[in-house]
Amino acid sequence: MGCCQDHRDEIREDIDLQLLDPVLDEYKGVRGSVIPVLQKTQDIYGYLPRASLSYIAEKLGEKEAKIYGVATFYAQFRMEPIGEHLIMLCQGTACHVNGADRIQMAIEEELKIKDGETTEDGKFTLMIMACLGCCSLAPVMMIGEETYAKLTPESTVKILRDLRNRDHKEVPE
Ligand code: FES
Repeated sequence: MGCCQDHRDEIREDIDLQLLDPVLDEYKGVRGSVIPVLQKTQDIYGYLPRASLSYIAEKLGEKEAKIYGVATFYAQFRMEPIGEHLIMLCQGTACHVNGADRIQMAIEEELKIKDGETTEDGKFTLMIMACLGCCSLAPVMMIGEETYAKLTPESTVKILRDLRNRDHKEVPE
């Protein structure tokens, strides 16, 4: 856990707050702008870095506690960075009846994460979704743009391991 936290703190320090300036200029003085500003902030960074909340508060002339309160209240906002590979596992009806629970268990066991969590090395984030729109292929998951169909626990673990191995080859440590 400790190393994960350090890793995330490093990411936080690296963020370029100036990327927010056009958004803040657009919404300065506009009532009810906190939610759209946070949405755009998340679009830019993939999550809401802590430093961005202070910056937004300062620029919009709001209390940081208010911005932080909105950010943590709504489920659409993420306070932690998403892993390099975002796994969206479908638990819609068709996928559920075709064994999505077993796929979820296989992912959780292989990666040691639950819904909404990211692996300690920052590689994978798991998100459980409702219907992904391709029910005839159930059970289904998407990783990034790629759709993986008719999953079994074995094929799922293989997909995850192949991705990890591919990453190791691409970025030698
Ligand atoms: S229920 Fe899973 S894709 Fe529709």
